[in-house]
Amino acid sequence: MAGKIKNRLNDLDGREWLYWTDTLYITSYPLDATHSLRKQHGAMKPPEVMAEIIRFFTKKNELVLDPFAGVGGTLLGAALEGRRSLGFELNPKWVDIYHAIQRDYVLVDKVFRRRDLETKGEEISGEMIEGDCLKLLKDLPQDSIHAVITDPPYGINHGAKGFNKETNFNMQSKWQEDDLGQAPNLNVFLSRIKNIGKEIKRVLLPGRYLVMIIGDRYQNGEYVPMGFLVSEVLREIGFKFKGVKIWSNKATRRRLKPYAVKSVFVPNITHQNILIFRKE
Ligand SMILES: C[S@@+](CC[C@H](N)C(=O)[O-])C[C@H]1O[C@@H](n2cnc3c(N)ncnc32)[C@H](O)[C@@H]1O
Repeated sequence: MAGKIKNRLNDLDGREWLYWTDTLYITSYPLDATHSLRKQHGAMKPPEVMAEIIRFFTKKNELVLDPFAGVGGTLLGAALEGRRSLGFELNPKWVDIYHAIQRDYVLVDKVFRRRDLETKGEEISGEMIEGDCLKLLKDLPQDSIHAVITDPPYGINHGAKGFNKETNFNMQSKWQEDDLGQAPNLNVFLSRIKNIGKEIKRVLLPGRYLVMIIGDRYQNGEYVPMGFLVSEVLREIGFKFKGVKIWSNKATRRRLKPYAVKSVFVPNITHQNILIFRKE
């Protein structure tokens, strides 16, 4: 019977759909050929993982937006799945790396390969625009995007010492004001997420999804449930919170660190939250 139901969201069959609804998500993709360029960005995501998310939340040829595109994990994932994509990124260094990937690599049978070693292959589509996503989102028409799949910076800046010590990546740059990774405290971070979330909601097509990857934090002796806090803010602006997948990337999982052993409980946070919201 499931085969007779028209699929309104993606191109998966019923079994593939069901498989992806598991709230636990463990991946271990080997590094792809573009990794040597992308690894300069301390928080890039594997294109294959982004491709799996995109495959669930879109159909072929639909348009995916990533407002915090980095070196293009989402855009590359979209290319793997034959989706169109658009990325916004504040830091020109990351934009340049994505353009270098487009220049030096092609897609051959859903694998990125160096252009100089191939006689044929598809161009990597996906447009990256440099700038502040809040401003750039305002230029997009209402109800024009099929899915927003993104991974904002979520290291909260408690001053240079705390920031460097407590977070696993440092995105300090000269764009102090616009850079979400430079938010001076949690409240500022959440209010910026709220403003950007409103624009994302405006450009998303009704019935479609915003997927946000957010890691929780442990700062100043306390667990900071960033995923939960961001979900609350996005609910306030009218998104329906549909669920979370707890993602563990085994390919990059670090050794557990002996924080306060035999003294107090301190977690080793090895997962990230893949938060799923719908514009109803
Ligand atoms: C966690 S990284 C995204 C990594 C990306 N998923 C990838 O695979 O490369 C978040 C990115 O957001 C960018 N960023 C921060 N504030 C921004 C803003 N206001 N507009 C656009 N990009 C921003 C940062 O420069 C950073 O590269």
